[in-house]
Amino acid sequence: MGNCFGRTAKVDRSLSNTAMEVPIKDGHTSSFSYLKASTSHGKNTPGSILIPRSEGDILSSPHLKAFTFDELRNATRNFRPDSLIGEGGFGYVYKGWIDEQTLAAMKPGCGMVVAVKKLKPEGFQGHKEWLSEVNYLGQLHHPNLVKLIGYCLDGDNRLLVYEYMPKGCLENHLFRRGAQPLAWAARIKVAIGAAHGLAFLHDSEQPVIYRDFKASNILLDSEFNAKLSDFGLAKAGPTGDRTHVTTQVMGTQGYAAPEYIATGRLTTKCDVYSFGVVLLELLSGRTVVDKTKVGVERNLLEWARPYLTDRRKLFRIMDTKLEGQYPQKGAYMVALLAVQCTSEAKVRPQMDEVLAVLDELPNGKDTKKPSKVKQQAVSNPGSNSAFRHHKPSHPNIPSQRPTCVGS
Ligand SMILES: Nc1ncnc2c1ncn2[C@@H]1O[C@H](COP(=O)(O)OP(=O)(O)OP(=O)(O)O)[C@@H](O)[C@H]1O
Ligand SMILES: [Mg+2]
Repeated sequence: MGNCFGRTAKVDRSLSNTAMEVPIKDGHTSSFSYLKASTSHGKNTPGSILIPRSEGDILSSPHLKAFTFDELRNATRNFRPDSLIGEGGFGYVYKGWIDEQTLAAMKPGCGMVVAVKKLKPEGFQGHKEWLSEVNYLGQLHHPNLVKLIGYCLDGDNRLLVYEYMPKGCLENHLFRRGAQPLAWAARIKVAIGAAHGLAFLHDSEQPVIYRDFKASNILLDSEFNAKLSDFGLAKAGPTGDRTHVTTQVMGTQGYAAPEYIATGRLTTKCDVYSFGVVLLELLSGRTVVDKTKVGVERNLLEWARPYLTDRRKLFRIMDTKLEGQYPQKGAYMVALLAVQCTSEAKVRPQMDEVLAVLDELPNGKDTKKPSKVKQQAVSNPGSNSAFRHHKPSHPNIPSQRPTCVGS
């Protein structure tokens, strides 16, 4: 979930649009109000997004269940350590079980598996992000966005209940030491799924800027379908003649677009930049900022740039875990696309243009011809052992919490 270093000290108060500003109202919401009626009727665009009239409001959504803390305690076996499946800046994520129909807590192994995210009690900014998540994911529904099932606001407790994504996040597959290598076809499938998620957000009357696109926020189902999670930093994008919204700079180091860091001007092209960064991570198997490396190799973009536009040199930055099993033409097309996405904002493509390129890739649509590497990745459930992984203590993944990147 979007979270940041020193976040309690840095609060976004400079919004120029109607995006949510949500000071805590004594930990409780008191009224529900609406600016607009939703125009999203299951169509493939978000339509208009409801924005709370009063700060701090949770928009009532017929899709979301309001859980009590006790229900979620029961669903997760009292948040037992062996129910833990991950940790982010927002807090811990636990595996839980609920009844598919009634959504009541169930015994482990019974009913439907869910992921329960429990906010660390860190105050204002965490609540703001929690609320943003509830309000955006309560309204946005798409196969490439993670499904939010419900939330809990109980005293100081803030929790979120999501569909469980059995293959965890892309970050663990790409960078976690000992993870089964992700085959080329699976990488392209993930890129296409994530691109659809972003295109859905951008392609609307009132676009939504995701603002925290990165490998750890791309969750994977059992078939490597990608779903975006963490809408804590999402913002309603510009409407009408406006080209941008202005916000305090928030995001994750390495993924945030340079012009946004420099100016605080947020556009959908900022997400396109982050998408380009993730494309490079998919190609190279390296994380965007690798603090375990020295010199130019610390910064993926700087290190990779000289090789990306030279077809004969591209192999030098390709993930060695692919063992050469990728189509050279396809890899080159992805490299060029990554270059375009991370170029100056005005020449960056829109997400629908990105999708058009990805759809043309050799093997782009055909993920059913697995290479040796793919077979390992798909058939071995051990590749999923990431669920017990405690990110901050992991030696191989530099901590990249979203932060106030430019200030
Ligand atoms: N719905 C889910 N299903 C399965 N695993 C999940 C789910 N949501 C989160 N996780 C796991 O929990 C981990 C922590 O997620 P979380 O969103 O809290 O942090 P993060 O994305 O890693 O970091 P950040 O705080 O910067 O967003 C993820 O990396 C993933 O492995
Ligand atoms: Mg996350």
